[in-house]
Amino acid sequence: MIILDGKKTSADLKSEIAESVKLIKSQGKKTPHLAAVLVGTDGASMTYVGAKVKACELVGFESTLIDLPEETTEEKLLQEIENLNNNDSIDGFIVQLPLPKHIDEQKVLMAVNPDKDVDGFHPTNVGKMTLDLPSFLPATPYGILELLERYEVETSGKHVVVIGRSHIVGRPMSILMSQKRKAGNATVTVAHSRTKNLKELTLQADIIVAALGIAEFLTGDMVKDDVVVIDVGITRVDDATKKRGYKLAGDVHFESVSKKASFITPVPGGVGPMTIAMLLKNTLLACENKE
Ligand code: GUN
Repeated sequence: MIILDGKKTSADLKSEIAESVKLIKSQGKKTPHLAAVLVGTDGASMTYVGAKVKACELVGFESTLIDLPEETTEEKLLQEIENLNNNDSIDGFIVQLPLPKHIDEQKVLMAVNPDKDVDGFHPTNVGKMTLDLPSFLPATPYGILELLERYEVETSGKHVVVIGRSHIVGRPMSILMSQKRKAGNATVTVAHSRTKNLKELTLQADIIVAALGIAEFLTGDMVKDDVVVIDVGITRVDDATKKRGYKLAGDVHFESVSKKASFITPVPGGVGPMTIAMLLKNTLLACENKE
């Protein structure tokens, strides 16, 4: 069993990006600049945005954090987005999700200039991705493709079962892996909360992408020998033995599934760090596109 080490792979990627930044700077070109908009004080979102800003510093990017209170109106948020769209020093930006309930998420994502949409969530970029045209790929699926490629996991002709149909992970993952690409050419099944006999499907799967958000959902009895398992879940589970009062659990019961797997991502240290690295990669691309 081989661990797909997202921590190490993302560190490699970040070194590569840092090299590109050095070169850009030495040529007197513009330093890539990522902005992140955070609305409210959700603990997980604050952690993620903090990690994104820190990663920018590490590779030599400029970063801007726009921290707005929970009660921010939709109008005010749309105004902030318009400012970022018009700000030439910003190459790309993200609006951290989820947003407070009084804000229409779709309206907000539609307001982002597709050329600065480094999350790849705007319908223009989703459409381009679906048609296999150059676009910003959403960071989590992009990170999974990168891990599969770098570990030379064979995907061509394999049966991939994606559990979860979210716009951020499950849906784009299923589209990308069915396309003609290096970590692609797979036969993909998308399973979700209404799927009947899920275990029958997972037992047939050569590769499973678990992205449903239920801690330790996928267990050893649900997978066949030599399966490749990608765990996208990251749920805070109460744990009194931990100083912070919780532990991070994936969607995969690692102990039982890893006994059968050929490759598996851990949580933490698997998909999570890759997501951040790919966001940086998209920002570099946004900066280069502008040049
Ligand atoms: N919330 C969970 N994942 C993501 C992501 O990839 N981007 C943004 N903006 N918000 C998220």
